[in-house]
Amino acid sequence: MNNKRVVIFGGTSGIGEATARLASSQGAKVVIVGRNPGRLEAALSRLPGASGKTADGTDPEAVARVFEGAPPFDHVVVCVSGGKGAGAFRELDLQAVRDAFAAKTLAQLTVIQVAARSMKSGSITLVTAASARSTIRGTAGLAAVNGALEAVVPILALELAPIRVNAVSPGIVDTPWWDGMPREQKDGFFRQASAALPVGRVGNPDEIGRAIVFLMTSGFTTGSTFVVDGGGHLAMH
Ligand SMILES: NC(=O)c1ccc[n+]([C@@H]2O[C@H](COP(=O)([O-])OP(=O)(O)OC[C@H]3O[C@@H](n4cnc5c(N)ncnc54)[C@H](OP(=O)(O)O)[C@@H]3O)[C@@H](O)[C@H]2O)c1
Repeated sequence: MNNKRVVIFGGTSGIGEATARLASSQGAKVVIVGRNPGRLEAALSRLPGASGKTADGTDPEAVARVFEGAPPFDHVVVCVSGGKGAGAFRELDLQAVRDAFAAKTLAQLTVIQVAARSMKSGSITLVTAASARSTIRGTAGLAAVNGALEAVVPILALELAPIRVNAVSPGIVDTPWWDGMPREQKDGFFRQASAALPVGRVGNPDEIGRAIVFLMTSGFTTGSTFVVDGGGHLAMH
């Protein structure tokens, strides 16, 4: 990672921030990107050595401005997402699923498309979600949003080669993504999930960051989705 240039869309919180910290500690020059300037400033204060830009991943022109005038990046990580799309299918709000596609599936495809124009090699790593295949009731919308991204990974790995394209597919990870849920409800959900998982707990963002850095640095890995879910794909139905 020494002196490699890394840009992390969604690097101002949670999994993206943990990835930024780890990559920086290994000598990478890291740029973090998020929409909210206050969140960006706060993250930069926790990440000495990193720099940052604001951009909305759903806006191709804003994403292009991150790459314009900057020396080419070696590695691009895409963590952006919204928080919608969950719920029992019979009552599922399909507008919320459309919003989830826009906020995650299309936003990640937008970043990848813009990034690929200025990259000749290196890697692109998407952050999807274990809901792509977890067969848990009430997650059909999330499965559609994340399954669509995981389906494109091998195709992009072929089309964009020699750029390597991979995904990390996390299970339940304790990050600010869950802040929309009341504290007590979140704690109860995490306890229930922990009891069902083979590893007996939910994940932390550093564990996902390590998987992302592995995919960035593993020059023989492309077209793969790395499931890091505490064994959730074995146990939770
Ligand atoms: N936490 C989990 O349990 C879990 C499980 C499975 C998958 N994941 C996936 O992991 C990824 C990272 O999640 P996290 O848990 O680290 O969430 P998080 O703590 O909420 O961080 C999300 C980051 O993405 C940025 N972001 C969101 N939408 C954006 C957009 N349109 N353009 C630019 N930046 C945007 C946010 O900053 P701004 O709000 O300032 O833009 C923030 O930096 C997501 O794709 C999520 O779906 C998370």
